[in-house]
Amino acid sequence: METKRSIIITGGAGFIGSHVVRLLVNKYPDYRIINVDKLTYAGNLENLKDIEGKPNYRFVRMDICDFDGILALMREEKVDGIIHLAAESHVDRSIKDPFTFARTNVIGTLSLLQAARTYWEEQKEGYEGKRFYHISTDEVYGALEMTSPEGIEPPFTTRASSGKKHLAYGTRFFTEDMKYQPHSPYSASKASSDHFVRAFHDTYGMPTIVTNCSNNYGPYQFPEKLIPLFINNICQRRPLPVYGKGENVRDWLYVEDHARAIDVIFHRGQVAETYNIGGFNEWKNIDIIKVLIQTTDRLLGREENEDVGLITYVTDRAGHDLRYAIDSSKLQRELGWEPSLQFEEGIEKTVSWYLANGEWMRRITSGEYEKYYDEMYSGR
Ligand code: NAD
Ligand code: DAU
Repeated sequence: METKRSIIITGGAGFIGSHVVRLLVNKYPDYRIINVDKLTYAGNLENLKDIEGKPNYRFVRMDICDFDGILALMREEKVDGIIHLAAESHVDRSIKDPFTFARTNVIGTLSLLQAARTYWEEQKEGYEGKRFYHISTDEVYGALEMTSPEGIEPPFTTRASSGKKHLAYGTRFFTEDMKYQPHSPYSASKASSDHFVRAFHDTYGMPTIVTNCSNNYGPYQFPEKLIPLFINNICQRRPLPVYGKGENVRDWLYVEDHARAIDVIFHRGQVAETYNIGGFNEWKNIDIIKVLIQTTDRLLGREENEDVGLITYVTDRAGHDLRYAIDSSKLQRELGWEPSLQFEEGIEKTVSWYLANGEWMRRITSGEYEKYYDEMYSGR
């Protein structure tokens, strides 16, 4: 089969990246999909077991900071598209070790941009038909306040500019034209990488796109993040460490809906544009935690709310952003993307997946997953 496109996906062994790799490998048999991942603690090739033998898929263990390696790979594979997800992604780790976040998220992104620029400028057609798509986060916009129209207690029903009705904890939302105000070392490093991507468009004419998405949830998420950590702790009857009062609000999107948005935007998004991705689905942490307890206990056949006593309020995260809420009207209006799952359905699917994949979780929490690459590729 003739190869129509050759695309590097960075961070494809991570949570969101593995869903994007799976979607593109299955949907486009005539594309070559090259998963470039360093396999940090967050990278797990077991996330991709179902597609690793497909003829249009290749895995390359490489650091995105390795300029020469990336450039050589781009030349070898005649790469015409990059979907860049590789990053250090956990806010709590960035508070303890900001340098690693600057190295990967800022220098790594810059190195990747420079390698793409070098290779694409060698081609006689230059940037024509090329795409550098950078996946970013809503956290770059900072934190929103909780405000409500007079006399109404949040959450209240409101209407997005797309006309969609939803529950909200505040009257303002993150829109694409908003000023960047990152607070954590993680979001500061993502903000910096976003600026570099846009600078490469403005300075060199590179065809870039940036998207900023809200909190993702679903299968294969590393169990340091709220949802998989808490599902696992409920199963194991371990304490559930709620930061502060559990009043912070996050806007949750099912990971496969994010992957679908990435597919749509990679193919049909306008160069130099920014798109916000989110599901108009705001939840207070404590309410989501209660839903997780209810759902997990029910699916495990335990008494209703048997594990509410596991909730343990702990010291708040430093600089904890109060509220995130994405307005994704532009994406819905211009490219027709919409989330496919209601939250209740998404949470049911997610908890069921973690319960059915206890071995995946066990191999992560025991550290065995890190040996998978060596077992898989030894002697090749
Ligand atoms: P993740 O931590 O699960 O995965 C990150 C992947 O990047 C891992 O496979 C890791 O091995 C790889 N990686 C890290 N450093 C690397 C390096 N130097 N070179 C090559 N590979 C490296 O992250 P995720 O939650 O899947 O997030 C993916 C992207 O989406 C990130 O850019 C993140 O900022 C962004 N994002 C995440 C969310 C979310 O809710 N998880 C929301 C919006 C945006
Ligand atoms: O908004 C998008 C971002 O969402 C992504 O860019 C990040 O990569 C991703 O990690 C996520 O960041 P958060 O900090 O919002 O996700 P996390 O799962 O760490 O925490 C969600 C909320 O739950 C947050 O308010 C902190 C709180 N929390 C988290 C953990 C891990 C707790 O109360 N207890 C916990 O143990």
